[in-house]
Parts: sequence; structure tokens; C-alpha cells
Amino acid sequence: MKHKVLILGTLGEFTELVKKAKEKGYETVVCDGYADGIARTYADKAYTIPVTDVDAIALMCREEGVDGIITSFSDLLLECMVKIADKAGLPCYLKPEQLSWYRDKSACRDVLDKLGLPAPGFRKISVELLKQGSEEEIQQSIANLQYPLISKPLDKYGSRGIFIIHHSDEVRKKALQTAEYTDCQEILVEEYNDGYEFNMMTWVMDGKVNVISIADREKTEMEEGMLPLSTRNVYPSRFLAEVEKSATDILQNYIRYTGQTEGALSMQFFWKPGRGIQVCEIAGRFFGYEHELTDMVYGFQTEELLLDYLYEKDRIKEMFDRHDIYHPVKYGAVLYFQGRQLQIADQTAACELAKEKCVVKPWIFYKEGEHVIEYGPNPYLALYYIETENRRQLEMETEKFFSEMSIRDPEGREVAYRNKIPEYEKEKKTDD
Ligand SMILES: Nc1ncnc2c1ncn2[C@@H]1O[C@H](COP(=O)(O)OP(=O)(O)O)[C@@H](O)[C@H]1O
Ligand SMILES: [Mg+2]
Repeated sequence: MKHKVLILGTLGEFTELVKKAKEKGYETVVCDGYADGIARTYADKAYTIPVTDVDAIALMCREEGVDGIITSFSDLLLECMVKIADKAGLPCYLKPEQLSWYRDKSACRDVLDKLGLPAPGFRKISVELLKQGSEEEIQQSIANLQYPLISKPLDKYGSRGIFIIHHSDEVRKKALQTAEYTDCQEILVEEYNDGYEFNMMTWVMDGKVNVISIADREKTEMEEGMLPLSTRNVYPSRFLAEVEKSATDILQNYIRYTGQTEGALSMQFFWKPGRGIQVCEIAGRFFGYEHELTDMVYGFQTEELLLDYLYEKDRIKEMFDRHDIYHPVKYGAVLYFQGRQLQIADQTAACELAKEKCVVKPWIFYKEGEHVIEYGPNPYLALYYIETENRRQLEMETEKFFSEMSIRDPEGREVAYRNKIPEYEKEKKTDD
């Protein structure tokens, strides 16, 4: 019988997954709450049901006779997939009981703590205390943490509600701002790690962590004191050899505890020469707008992996036998441009950059006339996937994009923030 797969998610990121599934001869059903999601155009059947409506989607799965469910790229989708699969009796690499370790930042921190794995020092503070407590009680609750600190919601994603706390006199104010983003009774306050940041994607097979990629997750401080924004992810990381082993060990220890034996597993972490790794967060999925890079740089397709996991598991081992993270075919990066909440009027410069030879895929999210909405369906103003033969070229191309990018509002004001490449240590060669 022909396989019928439910792909949870219809935004642009899922187009490739739908196309690939069809190429493989599977029937495709897509579903989420975005009625205009572009991936709908490619699927055999499309439903508009919010992904959080687990019961309704599970029922639809039974009615449709779906025999596999797949998603990735966002924490919310992962969570809903796990719950839907459980309800609909579909196979899935995580069970609802395991979700908190991949979704709830405090559960993750608690496990890391228990296992003695490195992470920034943290405390959970109740929203009640922030609202009603005395200044002394608040200071007491974060005693021994080293400034700067960072406050974040336990249940959010995409950097929502995260603020840097530079001084003890702004703890209450910043932490209360974070509290506005959450329905939880508590928020997290942790030490700010000013090291380099990394995005690591892996796949668990027979209980073993297989590294797919480790990238430099670069960011730029757009306004003083503001949480730096993500501006470029570079594949492979220039510190691959320095971080690979200890990062893999951490994940291996983590899943031994959570019981994950299969499936997607990713980690964001910090590292600085001489100071080792600290885990930022661990998730049971791949990163959005980023899995494309493993294809560009290594010829490793995450869509292929996700689909083979459902219906042709044996092929996954071969994929990893061929995969060598130390021998990229190309150097690649995704350049992210974020901006102010203004109206978009002139995107000429952004469109010109899209024509550069190194661009594999440009993605300009807004149309002229639209307003930039924070946390709307568009995660960025624009992004560009670029590839080059070596790292030096990648840096040169990036410089060009960072200096020439411009999007104007009707009054001629600049909408796009100015991205910067971080300062890497001088002794670290970039000519590999
Ligand atoms: N302790 C920390 N030190 C420095 N930066 C941090 C810290 N925690 C979070 N950040 C920054 O905020 C971003 C988002 O935080 P993260 O915990 O990954 O939450 P989200 O679920 O929103 O991705 C991180 O990618 C990192 O740049
Ligand atoms: Mg994160």
C-alpha cells in the first residue's frame, strides 16, 4: 500500500519536505493553522487546523489513514507532533513523557545539573516574588550568580522575552518584562555567557549520537544593552575540532538520561578558548532555516533523513557512513537580516544582493507596502544562503552583504539593522 505521510507545517520551510516525499512516491497531507502556507500547493491534501489542536489532528490522521508523521524546525511543531503521534498511534522518536527535557528550559537545566554537565549558573524565580517581593528577597533569590545575567521565559522560543540584566538594580524590571511573555509561574535567570555560540545538529541512531553539523551562530548587538540578534550561521564552525568531542559527549550523556534512542537532536552551546563548553539549550528537532546548509556544505539532506526514518530506516546508516563533518564540499552560511518595525517601501538593494553569484537561495520575506511585525509569520526581513570554495571567500562575500544591505521605509529611513562579523581571535587562521 502507498504510504501516506502527514507533514506538520505548511510554511515555506516545508516545501522541500513535501516535494521530496512526493518524489519518493508517498501521498502527502499537510496541516497547520496558516491557511496560506505555501507548502499546501505541493501537497496532495491540505488541512487548516492549528497545530496545537492535537485531538482534531489526531482524528484527521485516523480518518485519512496516515501511517507516518513528520515535522522539524520548531519547538512548538515538535511538541505537537509528539502528542499527535501518541494520540493517533503513529510511530515517533519521542513520547509525551520525554517532552519536558526538550521543551522546558528548567527541566533541561535540572537534568544538566544532576548529570554534572556544564551550563550557565541559573535560578528559577517566581513571578509572584518579582511582583510582590521586597528588593532584598529578589536579590537573595539570585545570590551568587555573576553579572551580567539574562532573564528568559521557561516555555518560549525564538529569543522571545529574553533580556540582559547588567546591574543588580534592574533585576526586577527586566525579569518582569520576561514574565509578560510567559504563562508559567516562574522564569529563568541565568549567567550571561559572552563566548562564541554554536548550533549543533545530530541524529540519534541505536542510542548513539551522530553529528550532522556544528556551525558558528554569530550575532550582532544592534543597540547597546539589547540581546544580540542572530546575524549569520557559518558551516562548518571554525572551531569544529575544538568543540566536537566534548559537545558530542554532553549530548550522549543527556540522552542516556532522557532515554532517547532515535531521532533528531540539536544543541545550542557556548564555548570560549580556555573556558570550555556551556549548554544553552537542547532540542529534539533540527534548526529552522538552517538544515539547508548541511545539504549545501556536505550534500547531506535532512529531508531525506526525516523521510527515510519513517519508511526506509536502513538507508540512514549509509547516509552517516558517507558523511564526514571535517570534509565539507563547500563553505556555507545563512545571513539573517532583521529590522525595525517600520513599513517596507524600497527593497532594491536587497533584491540586487539576491543576484550575487554566491547566493544559493535568497529569501526576502516582506512585500513592499507591508509593515514589519515582531514575532509575526516572517522571522526575518531577508535571509540569504551563500556558498563559497573556502572560508576566506565566505568572509569577503559576507562583508559585501553586510555593508550593502538596505531596505527603506516610505520616508527613506533604514529598516534593516546593520550586521557585523564578530572579532575572531587573530591567531585563529581563516584560510582553511
Ligand atoms: N546564558 C546565556 N548567555 C548568553 N546568551 C544567551 C544565554 N541564554 C540565551 N542566550 C542568547 O539568547 C538566545 C536564545 O536563547 P535560548 O535559550 O536558545 O532560547 P530560545 O528558545 O528562544 O532559542 C541564544 O541563542 C543566545 O544567543
Ligand atoms: Mg535557542
